[in-house]
Amino acid sequence: MTDTATYQTVAKVSDLEPGELMYVEAGDAFICLINMDGEIHALDDTCTHEEASLSDGTIIDGEIECPLHGGAFDIRTGEPTAFPVVVAVEKYDVRIEGDEIQVKVP
Ligand code: FES
Repeated sequence: MTDTATYQTVAKVSDLEPGELMYVEAGDAFICLINMDGEIHALDDTCTHEEASLSDGTIIDGEIECPLHGGAFDIRTGEPTAFPVVVAVEKYDVRIEGDEIQVKVP
């Protein structure tokens, strides 16, 4: 299968301070961008438990806590870390080009 994913610019590095998160869209993807200690991560914005937006959540010790029921995901991997979340959230590749944050989406 061919990899048709491409990098798309979603924000500027200067828009997202360490400890901040932001909702962005790229292609058909709804994304929660997270600046964790200066490293940018991109997770699917929709919680895998129910319909909640992770960009409304809270960053705590390397995890993002869902605003609805307190489930949580590892920001580096998207793996679930706290009940009631049991399914990993999709993680997207991120690259920085100059001052642009780019996310690889299908
Ligand atoms: Fe995220 Fe329930 S919707 S933990």
